[in-house]
Amino acid sequence: MNVNWPERLWCNSFLRRVAQRREVSVWRNMHSIKPGGDFLEIGCGNGAGARMVLRAFRPKRIVALDTDPAMLRRAAKRLNGESARIVLLQADAQYIPLPDASMDAAVNFGIVHHLEDWALGLRELGRVLRPGGVFLFEEIFPPLYANALMKRLVAHPTENRFHGPEFKAGLAEAGLRLSERSKESRFGMVGAAIKES
Ligand SMILES: C[S@@+](CC[C@H](N)C(=O)[O-])C[C@H]1O[C@@H](n2cnc3c(N)ncnc32)[C@H](O)[C@@H]1O
Repeated sequence: MNVNWPERLWCNSFLRRVAQRREVSVWRNMHSIKPGGDFLEIGCGNGAGARMVLRAFRPKRIVALDTDPAMLRRAAKRLNGESARIVLLQADAQYIPLPDASMDAAVNFGIVHHLEDWALGLRELGRVLRPGGVFLFEEIFPPLYANALMKRLVAHPTENRFHGPEFKAGLAEAGLRLSERSKESRFGMVGAAIKES
């Protein structure tokens, strides 16, 4: 579902950039990726994360998808000088319009909890990653986004939600093996998961 105005404000804020920069740096320390690969970002928002990923991991290209055309317009503006390496797509992360085993890495800056069928989203990521490919993620759990205050501010699906154990089971079901270096708390998780051969 598209984000409401308070969350849009947060996504487009300077503080969100700071948080994303920290996540990219955690991922880099967690898992090394050869430059020149094919990357996917789900729920790319305004493209700030895609730009950080281009700089940090130097992929050949990044396919960045989002359902919201207004966010994609912002991303197109931000990534204007990168047209050779970026493909922006209006698409749903639950039905990724890419062939099986076509990506070396997939990036998730806090999108999976936006998906009604989040387990399907994880299976889609497992499907499009090549064996040995990596899913880099930052994900949050209901104690952070569905507490009494946040429920008033932001809108998320409410049925069939996940905490750490369900998220890890969903990764395993999608053929994604969690890196032992991933970090989990009751509020969320930052980590890497490798597509099994
Ligand atoms: C909280 S914003 C995060 C944007 C960006 N990744 C960031 O970290 O700033 C969530 C984004 O996910 C997108 N989104 C929501 N549901 C989606 C879906 N089913 N498929 C793809 N994108 C989706 C929204 O349009 C929005 O841009």
